[in-house]
Amino acid sequence: MAGLTPDQVQDARRGWAVDAKTRALLHVAERLVEARGRVQDDELAAARSAGWSDAELLEVVGHVALDIFTNYVDHVAETPIDFPIAPPLATALTPRGGAREARGGPPGWSGRGRPIGLPGGFPPGPGGGRIPAMTTTRAAELDWANLGFVYVKTPWRYQAEHRGGAWTGGELVEDAQLHIEEGATSLHYAQQCFEGLKAFRHPNGKAHLFRPSDNHLRMASSSARLLMPSPPESLFLRACLETVKANLEFVPPADSGASLYIRPLLIGVGDNLGLRAATRYIFRTFCSPVGPYFKGGLKAVKLRVTAIDRVAKSGTGAYKVGGNYAGGLMATQEAKQAGYDEALYLDPIEHRYLEEAGSANVFGILPPRTPGGPARLVTPESPSILPSITLKSVLTLAKEELGLEVERRRVSIDEVPSFAEMGCTGTAAVITPVGTVHHAGKDTVITDGVGPITRKLYDLLTGIQRGKLADARGWCVPCE
Ligand SMILES: Cc1ncc(COP(=O)(O)O)c(C=O)c1O
Repeated sequence: MAGLTPDQVQDARRGWAVDAKTRALLHVAERLVEARGRVQDDELAAARSAGWSDAELLEVVGHVALDIFTNYVDHVAETPIDFPIAPPLATALTPRGGAREARGGPPGWSGRGRPIGLPGGFPPGPGGGRIPAMTTTRAAELDWANLGFVYVKTPWRYQAEHRGGAWTGGELVEDAQLHIEEGATSLHYAQQCFEGLKAFRHPNGKAHLFRPSDNHLRMASSSARLLMPSPPESLFLRACLETVKANLEFVPPADSGASLYIRPLLIGVGDNLGLRAATRYIFRTFCSPVGPYFKGGLKAVKLRVTAIDRVAKSGTGAYKVGGNYAGGLMATQEAKQAGYDEALYLDPIEHRYLEEAGSANVFGILPPRTPGGPARLVTPESPSILPSITLKSVLTLAKEELGLEVERRRVSIDEVPSFAEMGCTGTAAVITPVGTVHHAGKDTVITDGVGPITRKLYDLLTGIQRGKLADARGWCVPCE
């Protein structure tokens, strides 16, 4: 007997506006998977007495686990559930043998398997329920305010190829699959790099990319490091702009707090076996509307220093290449299992100096050197850190708008207790306050809220990105 299918679980966790009762079922399943909170006995009892067998509940648990581990999709448990869970769960579930009719619900459900047994369930879809899994989402159905940082497929992507020593002009394509040779160097030898940038809808209704030329520069340096031809800036910008324009309805509304994330990707392809650079490359940009990376808006996160090295001293840490991330998955998993939000890396030589978090740079705020002087923003300098475009923007704003003293230098882990505030910066993380750092068996609590300087930097940065503050430096590039 099937409860929710894996596709239904995935869709629900990707911000579909599912009913509160479905969210409640997922909530219990997610708590079982992640052990973030204890599942109350009465919640389980309610599910059972409503007719769900343990096998059915476990099946949903399995789908949630699959989604978390294969797609790195955080739980939706933080999504506000507009009623207390335990008692309504009992009434939310239709007793076995009761009506299991599907009624209403968002399009895009796969329709495979049995209809779920929840009142207000989902239609089988046209063609007798044969909508393919992960169909392209309809923008009108998205619940902008509750999007997570998860993939929502949009209709168009842009693709160009490098062959015979030259780039093709590229074109918009609908096919979300890549058809590449089994011997492709990107698959075997990680000859690939990528980027991440965002488009924001400004109050005038127009979509704007944030500092796309900086992403191009970084892709150029990553590709050079891996002996790949970089797309020229004109191609990179055209691909990003065309991708946004073709998927314009997926650029979230100005006041939603969400944005359109664009993922440029460069991979080595072609028939190959031995260890060498490819002779053919694909450059593609695709996009997805996203909400916050760390749920809960400006909420302090907890980082856990890991003994794992993300990169080597003279390795590829300063480049945005996939291999750096595969090696870090375990550190992130360990941090999460220990109850933290993300791993924090130290330098790979002495394990003493701060490097960065899983996908964000870090900074700390130190008190003024002399009474009445400016506060100091300190951020680690290291050859193995990925240079963050968000951090670059933050450093400019800290200096030029807030008059802070900015220090880029080696920062010892022992300095963390003297930080008045700490934050991480990234396209996905924006500016996220760091509340706690775990190191050598103990937690250092920096703040349990949002420090005043972090708040000011966040307001300045997001104000510019979202077109609410003047863009004096030309960081926002209109797409239309
Ligand atoms: C390892 C790492 N560090 C830092 C960042 C932040 O860089 P940016 O602000 O350019 O997104 C990212 C994200 O791209 C990252 O993956």
